[in-house]
Amino acid sequence: MNKDLITMDDLTNEEILSLLNDAERLLPVARGEKYLPLLQGKLLANMFFEPSTRTRMSFETAMKRLGGDVVNLGDVKSSSAVKGETLYDTMRMVDGYCDIAALRHPRQGAAQYAGDACSISIMNGGDGAGHHPTQTLLDLFTIQQEFGKLDGLKVALVGDLRYGRTVHSLSHALSRFNCELIFISPAQLSMPDEIVEDLTSHGANIMITEDLYGAIPEVDVIYMTRIQKERFPDEDEYAKVAGIYCLEASDLAGAKGEMIIMHPLPRVNEINPDIDSTRHARYFEQAFNGVVARMSLMCKLLGVTIPGGDV
Ligand code: CP
Repeated sequence: MNKDLITMDDLTNEEILSLLNDAERLLPVARGEKYLPLLQGKLLANMFFEPSTRTRMSFETAMKRLGGDVVNLGDVKSSSAVKGETLYDTMRMVDGYCDIAALRHPRQGAAQYAGDACSISIMNGGDGAGHHPTQTLLDLFTIQQEFGKLDGLKVALVGDLRYGRTVHSLSHALSRFNCELIFISPAQLSMPDEIVEDLTSHGANIMITEDLYGAIPEVDVIYMTRIQKERFPDEDEYAKVAGIYCLEASDLAGAKGEMIIMHPLPRVNEINPDIDSTRHARYFEQAFNGVVARMSLMCKLLGVTIPGGDV
């Protein structure tokens, strides 16, 4: 396995399946039903230069549930970044302090840069509008738990496909497992051409449309995303597309019974709360799955084997 997880290209399909298998075995540990201090003595650096709730907290939960400990960068405004310290220098410090690091940064490419600067493993927790591979691991885990497989499903990715890093990483992974993809967005927020070209050159089956409601009866998974307001250069441009897709329970009348709705969260208004109590909603389970996915990843990157049999 590569030292770092920067994009899904760092993992083979076999490695992905092995991580998901380990994640499933760690479910009782994530739920607090069993104590398994596999990472006792290990220290995780949570380096979040952008806001986060789930990614930061689930990394911390994962490390602590496995008996390890965590140091956080904390509020960026209270760090020496405000004095002009470079990312390179900051990460060189962390390389000495900790055994592994999760990094979120507004600049695309920052995780690769940090990985090159450090001897410890760097896990990309989101780099600008680039990639979010640990989110993809928990997304794949959620899909596999639901359908018992990843292969051959029909998945609609909806919303901000231009700036949404979760869908950049997820589309790449799903195409490698032969899923049919439907990209649903307004033209201004369409999937970047280079990603579509890369996917199609590798044989991906992709349909591109603006019509969410027409796709609902066809798909196994609807993956909603937030319009990434913070990445728009201009407030007026954001206003033109804000709230463009708002799913409500009444929209799901024609959906397959087993269809699931996912969202990396936070949601703004893409999913009406009246969907939360339907059989289709999976976004809170998905967020919980971030703990097992990140447990599994940290064990692998730190060279710790999960014992055989029941954990
Ligand atoms: N899904 C996700 O990345 O959420 P946070 O921004 O809260 O970490």
